[in-house]
This record gives sequence, structure tokens and C-alpha cells, in this order.
Amino acid sequence: MTTDQSVPADADLLDPEQLAGLADMDPETFRAAAHRVVDVMADYLSDVERYAVLPAISPGSVAAQLPEAAPEQPEPLESILADYLALIEPNATAWQHPGFFAYFASTASGPGILGEMLTAALGQNPMLWRTSPSGTELEQVVVGWLRRALGLPDAFDGLLTDTASTSSLIALAAARQAAGIDAAAEGIAGRTDVSELRVYASEEAHSSIEKACMTLGLGRASLVRIPTNDRFELVPEALEAAIAADRAARTLPIAIVATVGTTSSTSVDPVSTMANIAEREGVWLHVDAAYAGAVAIDPGLRAPFSGWERADSIVVNPHKWLWTPVDASLLLSRRFDVVRDAFSLVPEYLRTVGGAGTERNYNEYTPQLGRRMRALKVWIQLRWFGLDGLRRRIRNHLDLTRAFAADIEAAPDWELLAPVPFSTVCFRHVPPALSTDEAALDAHNAAIMATVNGTGEVFLSHTKLRGRFTIRLAIGNLRTERRHVERAWELLRTAAGEVRPR
Ligand SMILES: Cc1ncc(COP(=O)(O)O)c(C=O)c1O
Repeated sequence: MTTDQSVPADADLLDPEQLAGLADMDPETFRAAAHRVVDVMADYLSDVERYAVLPAISPGSVAAQLPEAAPEQPEPLESILADYLALIEPNATAWQHPGFFAYFASTASGPGILGEMLTAALGQNPMLWRTSPSGTELEQVVVGWLRRALGLPDAFDGLLTDTASTSSLIALAAARQAAGIDAAAEGIAGRTDVSELRVYASEEAHSSIEKACMTLGLGRASLVRIPTNDRFELVPEALEAAIAADRAARTLPIAIVATVGTTSSTSVDPVSTMANIAEREGVWLHVDAAYAGAVAIDPGLRAPFSGWERADSIVVNPHKWLWTPVDASLLLSRRFDVVRDAFSLVPEYLRTVGGAGTERNYNEYTPQLGRRMRALKVWIQLRWFGLDGLRRRIRNHLDLTRAFAADIEAAPDWELLAPVPFSTVCFRHVPPALSTDEAALDAHNAAIMATVNGTGEVFLSHTKLRGRFTIRLAIGNLRTERRHVERAWELLRTAAGEVRPR
């Protein structure tokens, strides 16, 4: 046996006092500090409206106030928290603010935050059943609860990932595997026995689908963008024609992506018809319901989802309209074995010696090995609110949205730019002096949005629909009340009057 000379035989290292200084924060210090931190958290949540939704700062200003290097010596919690309160909290975009109407909201609910705290303390990594039995089995249970709550059949199994982007990436990798070319083993580059592969999604589908094609080595060129109708819904005849043309050109269709709740306008693709086409063509159907899927927990509101039970995979994000703290995305698949074929790789050191062989090892279904334990926060939240509580909150958001959309429709100089199937309203101001000048209307509405966001009371974002600058008001924050939506409308009208047409 040789001695490792790189470790100094330093007697000080064995000094008990020195060793005590090498331990983690001691439990009693942790307890006191944690109570203090919980107070900071509760203060933030109880009075988040004291902050602007968008901090009025310029890029680089936070970093400029922080030292360039980490401290050499320990610092007391009080001074760390003082800096947190002075620098970090006020300069955070306030996603927890009831005036957050941008993108799609992502509230961290109280019970979800408690779940995050417990998760952090448990320090789990449910990559294998053995590395987190309760984490793994709770994930299986929570996936089952969500599946049932969404009204989907037992045939769907699944897991929790970080984001819809990852969920869709996994789904498309499985779609490619299902096409029978065993890309997991053989890859696709340079193969003469594999044609170019094609994925189909509407021109309104989320960029994460395109990114998945990039990441999977299919390239952006593999994504065929199918036109939409005047309601921004995929035109199935155009999908059929594109697939026929691609087959004639000897490319291989592998997946169709239907979106229920597109990002710009929340339009709903004709899922049932697309399921018919996918079945007939023998290609994988993936449904991206990252935002709107939450609505399906209400059986009375499931009409837009009709046909999704025939999908091969579905993504719904609890971290969007179900108020789980970022991150939590639910990926369900009726062909979970194929998902495993696409990702399973078990090096010797990860083999469970003496295991029952029936345990779920979630790393076999994902590109990464280590995983967060996301199930705990979702479980706590589902129990705290109950499904009925979640449904009532969603219905409330839908009511608030309808009222705002009705205000826009009733106002003479404003127009809706898309139907409103869920909780997002797409609109613009059209003053008579500008009504025939699209470029001026774009600039005018961009200025209105900037003015409104500049108040700090609300945050709205925009998109382009048919090339037109479109303001979006997306309701989804758990704290948003009618008064906040009414205030947004008041601010918009004021800004429209203030902004001088070009
Ligand atoms: C329809 C849709 N799909 C996917 C995504 C991507 O979500 P994530 O940030 O979880 O990757 C979004 C984001 O808003 C979305 O609207």
C-alpha cells in the first residue's frame, strides 16, 4: 500500500476545535436563521405590492454593487440578509405581484414554497429508487394524481421535469425512437439507411419545439411549420398536404405537435383531427398544453382538450397555471416504455445490486442523471388547495379574463386581435387617426405598453399576430384580484390618451 503524498500530514487537521469549524451550520444556528428567513419570506409575500413589478434598473446595476470575489472569511447571516433586502429582493422582477400579466404567470404558492423548503432540507436526488425511495414513489403517486385530475386514462405514465422545454425534448426523442431507427444506439448522422426526419407543428407552436429539434440533431430544418386559420389554429388539411409532400420526397415524418393554448394567442389546435392524422400516418402525437392544460382539471372545461387522450405524450406545467414554484413540468406518455428506450443507459455503478427489479429508476427516462425532488411541493400543494380549490381559482381567472375582454370589445378605439379561449387577452389600441397605418399602430401600442409597464403597477408583454404589434394581458397570478385587472385597464386607457400619435 502506498501513502498518498499529496495529502499533507498536518497535525492541525486533526485538532477537534479545527474540525468543529469544518462542519455545516450547526442545527441550532440553522433553526434560528431559518425562522428569521421565514419572516423575510412572509414579509415579502404579505406586501409584494410595495415593489414595482418590473424593477426600474438598467443591466449591470445589480452586479456593480456586489464584490468581484467571494469573501475569504465567513460573514454573519444578518449582513447577508441585509444585502439580500437591499439589493436582491427589490431588484427581482416581481412574479409574485398581482399585477404580473406578462408572458404566462408563474406564482410560487405558499404551500409550494413550504414544499421547496422541505425538499431543500431533505436534499434528495431521486435518480434511482434507492437514492430516494419516498421521492421516487411520491413522484409516481403525484403523476397519477395529476393524470386523474386532468381526466386522462391509466395508460399514461410519466414524470416531473424542470420545464416544458425539457418535457417536449424528451417526447420528441421518444417519437424518433418510436420511428424504429434506434437513434439512441446508432445516432442519425451519416446514416444512409435513415431519411431526413420531419416534425410538424403550427406556425404558432412554442419555440421549445424548434429548440428540441435543434438539440436532437434534427436541425431547425426538420420542423415543418403548418399554417393556421384566422383563429390561429393549425389547419389540418395543410398538415395532411405537408406530410404527403414529405413522404413523396422520401423524408420520414416522426411527430406531430398539437398545442392547446399557444403562447402568443392561446389558440387551440384541432387535437382530435390531428390524432386521426397521427394514427393514420403512424407518427407520434405530442400535445403541448404547458400553459392551458391546468384548465382540464375542471371536467366542465375540457372541450378544448378533446382528443388529447389519444396522444402519445402530453406536457402540462404545474409551474404555470397551477402555481407550483418554478420548476415543475409534467410529462405524460402512453408509451413510457419508448421514453425509456430513448434514454436508458445504466453504467455498472448505478446498478441496484439485490434490488427487486420492479422499482422505478427515473434517470432512465431523462437525458440527465441527477434530478430534483419536485413531487413533494406538488403533493403538498394539491393537498393544501384540494382539486376543488384549484378549479375555483382557475374559474375565477377565467371570469376576470372575460370581464377584461368585454371591456376591450366595448371600448370604441380598442380591438381584440384573437379569440380568448383561456385567460389571455390579445388586443391593441386603434385611434382613428392611425387606423390605416400599421407601422404607426405598432409604434403607438409599443409606447402604450412601455408607459403602462413604467408605472411599476403592472407588467404586460407583447407578441406579433399576423405581423401586428399585439399587447397581451395574461391572467394567472394567484394573488390577482378584479381590482388589479381593472387598474390595468385604467392604466392602458390613460397611456393611450397620453401617448401622442405620430
Ligand atoms: C405553449 C408553451 N409551451 C412551452 C413553453 C415553454 O415552457 P418552459 O419555460 O417550461 O420550458 C411555453 C412557455 O411559455 C409555452 O407557452
